[in-house]
Amino acid sequence: MNRHDIYGPIHKGIRLALSELVIRIGSTDFDDDAAGRETLAALRHQMMLSASHLAHEEAHIHGALEARAEGATLTLLADHDHHRRAFDEIEAVMRAIEAAPAGAREVLGRRLYLDFSRFVAADFAHMAEEEMVILPLLHRLFTDDEIIAMEAAIVAALPPEKVIAFMKIAIPAMNGPERVRFLNFVRCGAPAEAFEAILNFAARPTLTPDDYRAVELGLAA
Ligand SMILES: [Fe+2]
Repeated sequence: MNRHDIYGPIHKGIRLALSELVIRIGSTDFDDDAAGRETLAALRHQMMLSASHLAHEEAHIHGALEARAEGATLTLLADHDHHRRAFDEIEAVMRAIEAAPAGAREVLGRRLYLDFSRFVAADFAHMAEEEMVILPLLHRLFTDDEIIAMEAAIVAALPPEKVIAFMKIAIPAMNGPERVRFLNFVRCGAPAEAFEAILNFAARPTLTPDDYRAVELGLAA
């Protein structure tokens, strides 16, 4: 695909983070205070990123798409509303775990695992729909410059720590050549110090030394 893929990098990152969390929640003993607390903190962090991702798509993609293809975002919006209800349910189970005494959390932990896995299944189907149905539509209706402008508007509205948080899931989710292409693209649109911060705080800590070296070599080529 030589057209701009506005969904690919971030959706790969979200799939990576959600997959790791399914495994992590399933293997957490919530009656162990410290382990339970750490897993819930990681889950809350991702729920915050996922919720803000939905809001970004709605604010910067859906409006533009509706203006050129009325009704095109109706299913997406219904999915997003479904996800937001899932976030509320998941948060309620997390609070119930926090309120329960140690020794009484196993059933709630299982409930969290099942509710979360159901959300992940729905989100995976939703993201595939965006990439397989909506992205071709965007490509038909918009130029790459227009699509890149939507993406730039999303990034411009984010505080730097959130940019880093999204990059920390997107960068390790990519394959090597894709990662170098993506970072080269980011480098073209970002101030030098912002790009340095992405390398130092998002790429380096999430990649193996070999993969990070490959990034350095790729960017120098
Ligand atoms: Fe979406």
